[in-house]
Amino acid sequence: MPEPTAEIVDLRSDTVTRPTEGMRRAIASAEVGDDVFREDPTTRALEVRVAQMLGKEAALFVPSGTMGNQLAIALHTRPGDEVIVGEGAHVYWYESGAGAALSGVQFAVAGSGGLFRGADVRSAQKPRAYWCARTSLVCIENTHNRAGGRIFPSAWVDEIAAACADEDLPMHLDGARLWNACTASGETPASLARHFVTVSVCFSKGLGAPAGSVLAGPGPLIERAVRLRKMWGGGMRQVGMLAAAATYALDHHMTRLASDHEHAALIARGVLSLGTCEVTPPETNIVQVKFPKPIAARIEALANKQGIRVSIPDPDRIRIVTHLDVKKVDAVRACEVLQAVITSEVR
Ligand SMILES: Cc1ncc(COP(=O)(O)O)c(C=O)c1O
Repeated sequence: MPEPTAEIVDLRSDTVTRPTEGMRRAIASAEVGDDVFREDPTTRALEVRVAQMLGKEAALFVPSGTMGNQLAIALHTRPGDEVIVGEGAHVYWYESGAGAALSGVQFAVAGSGGLFRGADVRSAQKPRAYWCARTSLVCIENTHNRAGGRIFPSAWVDEIAAACADEDLPMHLDGARLWNACTASGETPASLARHFVTVSVCFSKGLGAPAGSVLAGPGPLIERAVRLRKMWGGGMRQVGMLAAAATYALDHHMTRLASDHEHAALIARGVLSLGTCEVTPPETNIVQVKFPKPIAARIEALANKQGIRVSIPDPDRIRIVTHLDVKKVDAVRACEVLQAVITSEVR
């Protein structure tokens, strides 16, 4: 097994990055005002920029992707409504039950594996009859986190949009990693966002900002979101410091996402070459390794001892996420350690 070194390679998530020197300088020199008064120039400029990038009328800076998604759910639904999502959707799995707690909605799962098609929406939607829950929103995650950073195929989104148009259903895009989908597919953010009424994007994942997301959509909906954001405690004052980090990330970190994808592919190839476990071919920056038995916690602990940190989404699965703080040399070392650990545990 490779010798442990002092340097830890943290592959648990792309949210673990620390701001670069350049980003810290941008934060320190940000022009700021009180954003609850809507007087923070850096934040307002970022909102305009991101709205344009996504082809939407307006946008609102929010503290987190969770708040962006949950504001969208609240804007599109009424208590008792149902939201159609893919299997393992972040809004359904990882947002602490906020859909139920804040908006009073329930979720229906379309298809399997996270991605779904137009026909899946049609079969998941409850009939508009008797006392059925009212289906009022379809939410898509691109890239899909639990599915291993998979890109939602554009043709499938087109099908879903057609099904939604037939039923007058709005669509929300959880684009926490939309930037990765754009990098890998060569499509623009506006193109990937075109069917969606609202879109949330994050700066705190692959783009490497310390916090911050944006919810974009039609002007009147975003106006309502401003009020809800305040109600939920997300109104921030001189938040231009965070908006400056996000702006810096858009300017400097978009083009480097391709190397995260290459590093994920490098690790996936190395682990796959062992021939002892299933590796989902990474489409972006997430690699999932599935073992023939529930040994993910043991693999995680052994890799951790060698300075390689991974996460455990399921008892038989580990997740490896590449990001700004992972250089090629780190990816190579992570691959060697994982190969050695897996070989010692899976035969
Ligand atoms: C797909 C997806 N959506 C939303 C979020 C929520 O983002 P935040 O942690 O900023 O609330 C995450 C976080 O990892 C995510 O992976």
